[in-house]
This record gives sequence, structure tokens and C-alpha cells, in this order.
Amino acid sequence: MSELQGKVAIVTGAAAGIGRAAALLFARGGASVVVADRVEEAGQAVVAEIAGEGGRALFRRVDVSSEEDCAGLVQAAVDRFGRLDIAFNNAGIAGHVSKTEDQGLEHWHRILGVNLTGIFHCMVHELRAMKAHGGAIVNTASVAGVRAAPYSAAYAASKHGVIGLTRSAAREYGRHGIRINAICPGVVKTAMAEELAAASVPGSTEALLAASILRRAGEPEEAAELVLWLCSDKASFVTGAHYMVDGGLTA
Ligand code: NAI
Repeated sequence: MSELQGKVAIVTGAAAGIGRAAALLFARGGASVVVADRVEEAGQAVVAEIAGEGGRALFRRVDVSSEEDCAGLVQAAVDRFGRLDIAFNNAGIAGHVSKTEDQGLEHWHRILGVNLTGIFHCMVHELRAMKAHGGAIVNTASVAGVRAAPYSAAYAASKHGVIGLTRSAAREYGRHGIRINAICPGVVKTAMAEELAAASVPGSTEALLAASILRRAGEPEEAAELVLWLCSDKASFVTGAHYMVDGGLTA
């Protein structure tokens, strides 16, 4: 595989789950990867894994809710690898499960701050770095970005917002050769999905999966494959779109 040969990529939330799987696929595709996460040890382990496979990677500790961290992240990619071609803005948190009136303002701001404002911060600096030569950006939304997520109002609002941000920016930056898309994962086997299942009514995740077409949870790699494709030149006619990768949950 060499679909990303010579490209420089940033992946946020790359220490675990879907982000980790994407960072590994990007590196196998030939990209130099900046592995960005707020968790250093697991992030460094991903860098070591990439290096062990003969790839090039760098860890950068970031909290995407900080604009300063996101600016530093893009600068680190440019300083170390000379440019930025690809960004997978994926870091996200689920928050707690409660009725809308009980979500709480602090919780609301925290979820929006990471899941939506975090992507905005990253995009502002990525777009500036890509404007001169073009690039590809993929943002992680969710099935909760296109339909209701009862008892997760803040999360659903943040993910609906990701799709609006993605579409709007795509309209603005097409002329600069920058394609911008979103992915909408369903239930994917990661720490976040486990955490959500534990916080929800027992059996609700199983019921959700039973109602989906493929009747199972996805592997992180199955979501990452879509991201790899969207970031590659094979997706040269694809922008301003959001793609379900949910085993048919929303079909
Ligand atoms: P995960 O919990 O396995 O990985 C998320 C990673 O993001 C972790 O390494 C974490 O340290 C990092 N992170 C969290 N907050 C951060 C911050 N403020 N700054 C930097 N890094 C931060 O979760 P998973 O499932 O891989 O989630 C990735 C994305 O996929 C998220 O945006 C999530 O909302 C989305 N998603 C996941 C689904 C699932 O079923 N796993 C379903 C739909 C969407």
C-alpha cells in the first residue's frame, strides 16, 4: 500500500481506538504521521509501533479543546516533516448519560469544547497550513450526528455540529484544493463504546446492534479504512460529505 506516499498527516485521538487504527493505516500507506493525544504513554506506544513497522511518526501531546495546543500541533507537523497534507480530527469524548435537563452546563461545555470546538481549533490551523497546496481533512462525527441520541444531548449536538462545520468549510476551501469530509461511526469496539455501554441501560447496546443490518459492532480498523480512502487521491471527487460506517444502523 502506498496511497499516502510522501504525505504528512495529523491524527488526533490517535493513542487509542479509531484514531490509533487510522494512524497505523496512514503510516502503512506511506505517510509521516503526527500522533496527537492528551495521553502520552499510549500515544508514544503508537509511535513505537509505527517505527517498528518501518514508518515515520512523532507524538505530540495535545488537548484539542485548547487552541494553543492545536496551533502547536500543526506547527510541529510542519517543523518536523515540512508540510501538512492530511488531517484526521478524531479526538472525542462521550460524556455522561442523563436526561437533557440533567446534562449540566459544565458537562455541556466540556463535550462541545472537545468534540466540536476542538475540531474547529484544529481546522483553523490545518486550513492555513494546507491552503497553498491543498489537502484532505476528515472529521469524526457519529450516527449521533444525523439522528437522535437520547440521554446524550450534548454529545449529539456536538456531532451534528461537526457535520455542519465540515460541510461549510468544504464549500469555502474547495477552491484551495482542500477536500473536507466527515465520518459517522456506529458502535465501534473501543474504550469509549465500552464506557457508554456501561453507563447505559443494560442491554441497550445489544438492542441497538440487533436492529442494525450487520448485527455486530465494528472494529476500529473498519472505520479507519474509510478514513484512509477519504484522505487518499482515490477520493478526489468527494468533499462536503459525511459517510456512515455503522453496519447499517441508520439504514
Ligand atoms: P477512544 O476513547 O478509544 O479514543 C479516543 C482518544 O481520544 C483517546 O486516546 C483519548 O485520550 C483521546 N482524547 C480524548 N479527549 C481528547 C482531547 N481533549 N484532546 C486530545 N485527545 C483526546 O474512542 P474512539 O471510539 O476511538 O473515538 C474516536 C472518535 O470516534 C470520537 O470522536 C468518538 O466520538 C467517535 N465515535 C466513536 C464511536 C464508537 O462506538 N466507538 C461511535 C461514534 C463516534
